[in-house]
Amino acid sequence: MAERTYDIAVIAGDGIGKEVMPEGIRVLEAATRRYGFTLKQKWHEFANCDYYARHGRMMPENWKEEIGRPAAIFFGAVGWPDIVPDHISLWGSLLQLRREYDQYVNLRPVRLMEGVPCPLAGRKPGDIDFWVVRENTEGEYSSVGGRMFEGTDREMVLQETIMTRKGVDRILKFAFELAQKRPRKLLTSATKSNGIAITMPYWDERVEAMAKAYPDVGWNKFHIDILTANFVLKPQIFDVVVGSNLFGDILSDLGPACTGTIGIAPSGNINPGGEHPSLFEPVHGSAPDIAGKNVANPIGQIWSAAMMLEYLGETEAAAGIMTAVETVLKQPALRTRDLGGSASTQACGKSIADALS
Ligand code: NAI
Ligand code: MG
Repeated sequence: MAERTYDIAVIAGDGIGKEVMPEGIRVLEAATRRYGFTLKQKWHEFANCDYYARHGRMMPENWKEEIGRPAAIFFGAVGWPDIVPDHISLWGSLLQLRREYDQYVNLRPVRLMEGVPCPLAGRKPGDIDFWVVRENTEGEYSSVGGRMFEGTDREMVLQETIMTRKGVDRILKFAFELAQKRPRKLLTSATKSNGIAITMPYWDERVEAMAKAYPDVGWNKFHIDILTANFVLKPQIFDVVVGSNLFGDILSDLGPACTGTIGIAPSGNINPGGEHPSLFEPVHGSAPDIAGKNVANPIGQIWSAAMMLEYLGETEAAAGIMTAVETVLKQPALRTRDLGGSASTQACGKSIADALS
């Protein structure tokens, strides 16, 4: 049997990134032993604010060379606003990686887990289980536009939405393919073609065209206003939800918020063609308010590890990690403080690694 070996770039970042990353790695290492594959880790000491304090920049000029061609990047969280303003730390590191590596898919699961209090009344584990797929490179977040007549009574600002056929089709293709792999095979598209009457009808048109290539996948669309309401009122009706950059941004925060703590939410920034590495990271930031106290929940990092393994094709190991996470979440004594427990970051991470072994 061919040996399965993957090169992984590891970037822990700042604050609790440095605390949850070792737990993510602990669980990944347990997975390699249990499922018989190898991860070659290369830790990078840049993309953090201490690096900035020493070098005046977040990453070395030759960061691409330094990172090389790993199978994936495993990322913690970056930001330490006392030393470096957030726009500098984020744009100088994570946002550069996402952009330069054309990670045009932002993928987040929305799943209600046992042991995590649900902010929506009357929902139980199993009721909420879907994915949000966000277009991550174009759409409403464009740099086309400007400001004129500043300071006069003719002052004006303009910012254009850009949708390209390539950009729209590739995100839809990813979303349809994801839906195809799911038991319900249902895709929901976020639109607003009643109000945004040029780009959104185009988006809808491309959805309809793409749907023809996936006859086994059912699909529907909602205007973004009622869609957000339905995330809260009827989360059980969703399977895979796809949206433009702006709509996806909102949905990918709202979705995980509907299922509880930010401490467990993972995400993938994916370049599906594999020309560039994809990056997996928890949704949360570096949490300066709890950094150094050893109370951070490591599950966001650990779930991101599972997403990374799924992406690498280690499906069984990914499922194994998720089962271990579920097992640990069920036990109040193993939960961290954000979930009402008193387990330390390490204790929680270690029990997940043990459950996996
Ligand atoms: P944050 O996500 O770091 O923290 C928000 C709140 O959630 C805090 O009260 C924090 O204690 C709590 N929290 C976050 N993760 C947790 C965990 N694993 N366990 C328990 N509680 C957790 O967001 P905030 O405070 O807005 O940003 C702090 C720094 O992180 C800033 O520098 C910001 O730019 C950066 N940031 C970085 C991100 C990234 O690397 N992808 C994403 C979001 C923020
Ligand atoms: Mg956001």
